[in-house]
Amino acid sequence: MNNNLQESAKHIPIMTDQVVEQLITESNGFYIDATFGQGGHTRALLENTDKDALILGIDRDSTAITRGRCLFATEQRLILRHGHFSALADIAQEFQREVNGILMDIGISSDQLDDAERGFSFSQNGPLDMRMDQESGMPLSEWLASASAADIAKVIKDFGEEPYADRIAAAIVDYRKSNSIVTTKQLSALIVNSQPRRPLNKSHAATRSFQSLRIFINNEMEELRQGLNAAAGLLKNGGRLAVITFHSLEGRQVKDMKFGMKAVYKSKPDRSEILSNNRARSAVLRIMEKIN
Ligand SMILES: C[S@@+](CC[C@H](N)C(=O)[O-])C[C@H]1O[C@@H](n2cnc3c(N)ncnc32)[C@H](O)[C@@H]1O
Repeated sequence: MNNNLQESAKHIPIMTDQVVEQLITESNGFYIDATFGQGGHTRALLENTDKDALILGIDRDSTAITRGRCLFATEQRLILRHGHFSALADIAQEFQREVNGILMDIGISSDQLDDAERGFSFSQNGPLDMRMDQESGMPLSEWLASASAADIAKVIKDFGEEPYADRIAAAIVDYRKSNSIVTTKQLSALIVNSQPRRPLNKSHAATRSFQSLRIFINNEMEELRQGLNAAAGLLKNGGRLAVITFHSLEGRQVKDMKFGMKAVYKSKPDRSEILSNNRARSAVLRIMEKIN
């Protein structure tokens, strides 16, 4: 596994100025970056707070935490913990401080996507894993080895809105009668061959299926539901929650949030940010404030 940031793809944090501006309400406050990644947003929070501020960085990927401990080795105001944000309340408990702000930048980071060994990418061949936390759960190859066609189709439909979901699921089940599906290339070929040829200007034929299977394998929707509830419970009155989402299912969960949270801000990256960082193109930033 690649722990060296110089060698791994650099993740460009999204809408950093807006996150900093909207999230920091107290310059010596306690902030939680629940999706630490490469620490781009955390760095901005550190740069824009004072000496008594404390930042807790959490990531379910232990590689991100190990790398972060090296990158921020001299930063006394940052504490890093390996964990899932569904367990935010338990993780934050040890600090016994009122929480002023929480950031959730949903999805995967560029280094996870670009590391063929993690199995997230259809454009590079690698083991079909797709787990953000490789210390728990089941690699995708294991699930695909026994899941029914109906279950596979449901995941691809529900989380990817893929019109060819039934054909893709049938092709997977048929292929596995004589082969194990263990690489991203095998899966990508099955998905592409289940669909009519697409115009060159359309997204890759495996985009929706890969995204949906990643969401499923990492239990992302349930993680988000629990993480949002935990965040709402932890924040002090007037404290803020910033959530960056990348597709409508995630956005809907954030919009539907109750538990004493009021929506105060919504923004999308501007043209120049999208031009310099294509991965920002579908991002939406929402800010919620804790009310009585
Ligand atoms: C889009 S990246 C965050 C990038 C980060 N904001 C930065 O500036 O580098 C998302 C990160 O959140 C982590 N993650 C996703 N779901 C998580 C969860 N349920 N609990 C904790 N971390 C999670 C992923 O492992 C990944 O490192």
